[in-house]
Amino acid sequence: MGQTLTEKILDDHLVEGELETGEEIGIEIDQVLTQDTTGTLVWLQFEALGLDEVQTELAAQYCDHQTYQFDFKNTDDHRFLRSAAGTFGAHFSRPGNGICHNVHKENFAAPGKTLLGSDSHTPTPGGLGELAIGSGGLDVAVAMGGGPYYIEMPEVVNVRLEGELPEWATAKDIILEMLRRLSVKGGVGKIFEYTGPGADSLSVPERTTITNMGTELGATSSLFGTDEKTEEYLSRQGRGDEYVELSPDDDAEYDDELVIDLSDLEPLIAQPSMPDNVVPVREVAGQSVDQVIVGSCTNGGYEDILPAAKMLEDRQINKKTEMIVAPGSKQASEILAREGWTAEMMAAGVNFSEATCGACIGIGHVPASDSVSLRTFNRNFEGRSGIEDDNVYLCSPEVAAAAALKGEIIDPRDLADELGDLEDPGFEMPDQYDGSKADLIAPDEAVDDGLVKGPNIGDVPLKDPLDAHLEGEVHLKMEDNITTDHIIPATQDILMYRSNIPKLSEFTLSRVDDTFAERALEGDGGFLVAGENYGQGSSREHAALCPMYLGIEGVLAQSFARIHKANLFNFGLLPLTIDEDTYSKIEQGDDIEIVDDVSEAVDSGQEEFTIRVNDDWEATGHLDASERERRILSAGGKLSLTRQQYEDS
Ligand code: F3S
Repeated sequence: MGQTLTEKILDDHLVEGELETGEEIGIEIDQVLTQDTTGTLVWLQFEALGLDEVQTELAAQYCDHQTYQFDFKNTDDHRFLRSAAGTFGAHFSRPGNGICHNVHKENFAAPGKTLLGSDSHTPTPGGLGELAIGSGGLDVAVAMGGGPYYIEMPEVVNVRLEGELPEWATAKDIILEMLRRLSVKGGVGKIFEYTGPGADSLSVPERTTITNMGTELGATSSLFGTDEKTEEYLSRQGRGDEYVELSPDDDAEYDDELVIDLSDLEPLIAQPSMPDNVVPVREVAGQSVDQVIVGSCTNGGYEDILPAAKMLEDRQINKKTEMIVAPGSKQASEILAREGWTAEMMAAGVNFSEATCGACIGIGHVPASDSVSLRTFNRNFEGRSGIEDDNVYLCSPEVAAAAALKGEIIDPRDLADELGDLEDPGFEMPDQYDGSKADLIAPDEAVDDGLVKGPNIGDVPLKDPLDAHLEGEVHLKMEDNITTDHIIPATQDILMYRSNIPKLSEFTLSRVDDTFAERALEGDGGFLVAGENYGQGSSREHAALCPMYLGIEGVLAQSFARIHKANLFNFGLLPLTIDEDTYSKIEQGDDIEIVDDVSEAVDSGQEEFTIRVNDDWEATGHLDASERERRILSAGGKLSLTRQQYEDS
């Protein structure tokens, strides 16, 4: 039987297990990436593990999420990250050089390699045949030390793209269509492999828009094969020699298949406040638009901004709408400036931001209250823009530029009819991606002498081994689809404490209940209860670490998002799945006791746990964990276990 492309790459990197769906496998990691909000912890953990040198082929530290140096804390973090990259042997990308996924794609991503990153949109380079997976930072620290990365072998789903995109429909509409069909849970435990003539027709930047936003489906990763388009992209980046031809076998067997005929697509838009709330643009046309932003790791490339620039050429944006362009990388900014497009857009009324995540996580360009903002980003969770009553829509750069011109949501096809001389700008790459590398510091160019830690950078808290007896109050009961943004908001006022866990923990779940952190810290142990898909969203491990610091022992949820569940194990929190009936009966403030000897049950492979509620009624909680995850849980988390293993070896 032939192999899928996913299986081929995994086979090349397999160090433990077999490629059977649902079985745990260990794979060797070639490249790692980390960014500033997760990176400080990654390096503190790397240091706590007693490691002194990066063991992977390549490691890269980016500064992209919190680049504005409001006060000393961010600047201290950036300095610490530069010193850690230099000390341990990673590339360092300075603040302002761009978003990790964009800069990684431009400089390092390579077909056939494996990449592990402490950012949920790490799968972006799947568009050029790299198998890239997002994880918690501790997994990244361990992989960087040469350890395997463990994962349950996902289902591999073939997404067959037929036909070609019609005028004004873009790669963004392909992934929005996937979200419309499958929802934010539709990709959990899956890798999507895109094939077919429609996939062949897309360029690498278009493919990476799709693989980037596969994360919104909950997918483990997304992947395209390689071809002359991949080779062309790498050559124009000056890395043609890294090209490798990769494709699935003709007789590969997939776990599932899905067909999208691209010629049926039209401009789509995700309405507030979920990326799967997708409708045709025409269904929501006519709404007044206050703000438009083109950028982010999804649509912040030169190739994404250029169509908007062409649409604005010799025109002016509507007086009631603000438009901001936030390039994904300095390379994109440089080429746009050199070709004159920056001046052209400025003349049309556009303002530029530095190359940063910024507005994507509510740092800068926060919309006015209860106003409409159209963004080319990948997420529009409520409050992520920096204000609770936001109305953020997600769309292509073409739809965003059309809205800026009209001052209201409009299908660009209808705007073209209105204006008479507006043409579909199409897709174009520069002949050469010739941005400078001044902001990328290679390991052999390191400028610091050892680690430099400012006063806001603390140690990583460690947890004791798992107790035999777990009992405590339900400190918070939550609904479905709680995101890691709900657990630890990534806004500027909070993010600055990412290396100071006691302070950061004060903000835990404050967006759900602002008394939670205080109550949890005062309580002796305790639990969180949630509905479906708990912990979806970003990979931030602070969302597990901070509840652990506050004394939370376990989470009872109807289901968990993949990365967050791994993070719960990594920080020694017991994740038990409960059924809908149990969920609806448990109330906030109830007393929970796990009747079993928990540490013994975890060690022995027991899957069902008896939960006694208020000493009154009982229910069953299910622990779905591999042998390795059980060892981690038992030891009080991965840091404790790995330290122990290094000490013993
Ligand atoms: Fe940054 Fe937003 Fe992407 S935070 S990494 S631009 S999802």
